[in-house]
Amino acid sequence: MSEQHPSDIPAGSEGLRSRVTLRRSESGSAATGSFFEQIGGHETFEKLVRAFYDGVQGDPVLWPMYPADDLEGAIQRLTMFLEQYWGGPGTYSEQRGHPRLRMRHAGFRVGPDARDRWLKHMRAALDTLELSPLDDATFWSYLDRAAHSLLNTFDD
Ligand code: HEM
Repeated sequence: MSEQHPSDIPAGSEGLRSRVTLRRSESGSAATGSFFEQIGGHETFEKLVRAFYDGVQGDPVLWPMYPADDLEGAIQRLTMFLEQYWGGPGTYSEQRGHPRLRMRHAGFRVGPDARDRWLKHMRAALDTLELSPLDDATFWSYLDRAAHSLLNTFDD
């Protein structure tokens, strides 16, 4: 399957801009000041994802979908993906291949309720970062669009 989904396309590669991200080394950070760097790099992304999973663990609808015996793995996968998307190291694709998020979520029932719960925990997690209003809006609009694009059922 070679479907290219909007949520898979790294930031900064849309429109007239080059689709090639210049990296400092093969799987290194983007060579130009990236959003990843601007908001604090790895520490910021890991903090976000850990706060998100704190919320997910208390969620009776979402938590059963996640691998309880591999929470650390899930934390690493989402962290690496978001870092790569925003111009950080390309470790996600190095380890997991092409993101293909719709395909990777096909095995989970992502209905409106699950989507809204996911977004609720992400919103709370993003609040813990206390980003500037512009950075917050930049990050949030992506997460909101990506979550809506992953809907794969209308049944809750
Ligand atoms: C809309 C509601 C969503 C639900 C219910 C959901 C659920 C899940 C579940 C259950 C997993 C498996 C956990 C694991 O083993 O890693 C997963 C993985 C993942 N999700 Fe989501 N997800 C949602 C939205 C999103 C969004 C919006 C993104 C990106 C912005 C995302 C990115 C990922 C990534 C990168 C993985 C790991 C894929 C891999 O490499 O295996 N998810 N998701």
